[in-house]
Amino acid sequence: MTYLPRLLASFLALGCPLVSALAFPGAVGFGSVATGGSTPFTVTSLADSGTGTLRDAVSASGRNITFAVSGYIVLQSPLSLSSSTTINGQTAPSPGIGVMGREVSASGKSNIIIRNLRMRQGNMDSDTGKSAVNFGKATNVILDHCSVEYGIFDGIDAVGAVNVTVSNSIIALPIGQQFGAHLETGPATWYRNLWVSAHNRQPLTKANTQFINNVVYNYQAAYTVANTGGLFSHDIIGNYFIAGPRTTSASDDYFQINANQKVFASGNFLDSNKDGVLNGAAANSVGSAVVLSSPWNSGSTGLATLTAAQAFTSVLANAGASPRDQVDAFVVSTVQSLGTSGDIITNQASTGLSNNGYGNL
Ligand SMILES: *[C@@H]1O[C@H](CO)[C@@H](O)[C@H](O)[C@H]1NC(C)=O
Ligand SMILES: *[C@@H]1O[C@H](CO)[C@@H](O)[C@H](O)[C@H]1NC(C)=O
Repeated sequence: MTYLPRLLASFLALGCPLVSALAFPGAVGFGSVATGGSTPFTVTSLADSGTGTLRDAVSASGRNITFAVSGYIVLQSPLSLSSSTTINGQTAPSPGIGVMGREVSASGKSNIIIRNLRMRQGNMDSDTGKSAVNFGKATNVILDHCSVEYGIFDGIDAVGAVNVTVSNSIIALPIGQQFGAHLETGPATWYRNLWVSAHNRQPLTKANTQFINNVVYNYQAAYTVANTGGLFSHDIIGNYFIAGPRTTSASDDYFQINANQKVFASGNFLDSNKDGVLNGAAANSVGSAVVLSSPWNSGSTGLATLTAAQAFTSVLANAGASPRDQVDAFVVSTVQSLGTSGDIITNQASTGLSNNGYGNL
């Protein structure tokens, strides 16, 4: 019986995680190796701390966390996750679960799954060095169907992070440095995300990267590598870049990508004219990068199942935590204007939404 090991070996050679190792059904990319926790823990209180709170839940490793309550948890200090944690926000009763006011951190931790959680730092946090999500030096982490808004340092800060997936998520309206996400080390997978109204870093990715079927709206700079000396490969497939009112130069859809980078770019579109209609043109010319004629990662083609136009429809309908709340509905509505609305903000209150801009949940 030599065929089984050979089959396994060929799976591994292809870079496909074995099905049994998937974080959850439908998990994709480098972070899908995460297995999270398995000890059941139910959150029964929206308080910041104490028995039955989310802070209590994440205080020990190995937990598989579900929710019997819904609404916002107002954090009084950063929420620091233990390794091997799964947060199943999708188990919360409608209208779902979110945290506001401080950072959610898995810094230095490993094996983390976060699903269907709204993470909105905002200016309740006076620490301008913190982000909505901190994956610094974290390993094997996956964020799926999450909503990351009002980050101050970054929306997602993931310097030194290994094996990361951010999928089906909204990363929008950062208010401090006005940066979407910063990842270094990798590898990393960004899949079917909606990036809205940031100055830059959508994402900044100094890593071997898959960037597939994302939508980026109202950027000043979108996909960025920051002219690093690092040698990285990037599969950039089927994404839609759309200029908005605050886009100063639509050609900064790809930004600071020098000849140290190798890029496979295919099926990407840019709609630069801010005319309220989705009518972009092909945009596969990426800075001075070395052009790859096929993806650097053998899994990328299999992930790129949507055209850029299909990604626009699918991502607008599905990205972020569900059910969709006021903040996410606001974000999506600005994208639907296709060039005529959207601002890059310094204070969440300037969205005009209730609850000082955090919306009601
Ligand atoms: C964790 O909880 C979720 C939601 O109840 C469940 O679907 C999943 O199977 C659990 N995973 C593990 C490893 O226990
Ligand atoms: C990253 O994932 C790969 C499998 O894709 C695994 O072989 C490797 O050990 C992981 N890295 C770390 C630091 O866990």
